[in-house]
Amino acid sequence: MRKPILAGNWKMYKTVSQSLSFVEHLQGLVDDLEGVDAVICAPFPSLYALKSQLEGSSIKLAAQNLHQAEEGAYTGEVSALMLQDVGAHYVIIGHSERRQYFGETDESVNQKVHAAFKHGLLPIICVGEDLSQREQGTTKQLVEEQVRAALSGVTADDVTRLVIAYEPIWAIGTGKTATAQDANEVCAHIRSVVGEMYGKEKADGVRIQYGGSVKPENIEELMAQPDIDGALVGGASLDPGSFAKLLQGAR
Ligand code: G3H
Repeated sequence: MRKPILAGNWKMYKTVSQSLSFVEHLQGLVDDLEGVDAVICAPFPSLYALKSQLEGSSIKLAAQNLHQAEEGAYTGEVSALMLQDVGAHYVIIGHSERRQYFGETDESVNQKVHAAFKHGLLPIICVGEDLSQREQGTTKQLVEEQVRAALSGVTADDVTRLVIAYEPIWAIGTGKTATAQDANEVCAHIRSVVGEMYGKEKADGVRIQYGGSVKPENIEELMAQPDIDGALVGGASLDPGSFAKLLQGAR
């Protein structure tokens, strides 16, 4: 009942020409995307060029961040309206790298979620614990706090349109994947938190991704879990052949 969603987060990789060549190559490899929502989270400079190239394709574009203000004197920042204008459909909010290196907080994440919805962008909200939190056994509590804060003030209609990505920080780019069962346990907890906030029916409609060293070799096992509805993939999304396999495995 929940359509799988596979998103490739390119992070700070690929020039415009490399982005266009990726999509051209991918389109030669994948002709049927039925059964999965495919999303490319490209760097800002590539979005507009990709918008034209993806005309008529069901592949959707995402930005990797936005600023929460409508507009203003915020040098170096990009607004929701600008992103919507250049073809973004989704936007990643609160990725752990943004929280760790750029000072994003649960509060700014929540503001960004509202800014995104205001301009028709669908948030992919990232949550997840670091290694010490995992070892201390506080994962579920921390993730619950992040989810409750991110969703504060979000309407029941909007909640089923957003995506939550559970990404244990210790699994990002390290080759260490949470076991499919462990990942599912946290995703199930996230769903139960959404259920407490909005009711079971809404919670059952929310798509929850796992992220952290997802690759073609482990995507099927992760997708077989009942509460994992897709993946947010970094490294393994950079190569069109690997991304095509991930899309196949997510269906
Ligand atoms: O946004 C994607 C995640 O940070 C995962 O990255 O697949 O390279 O571990 P990774």
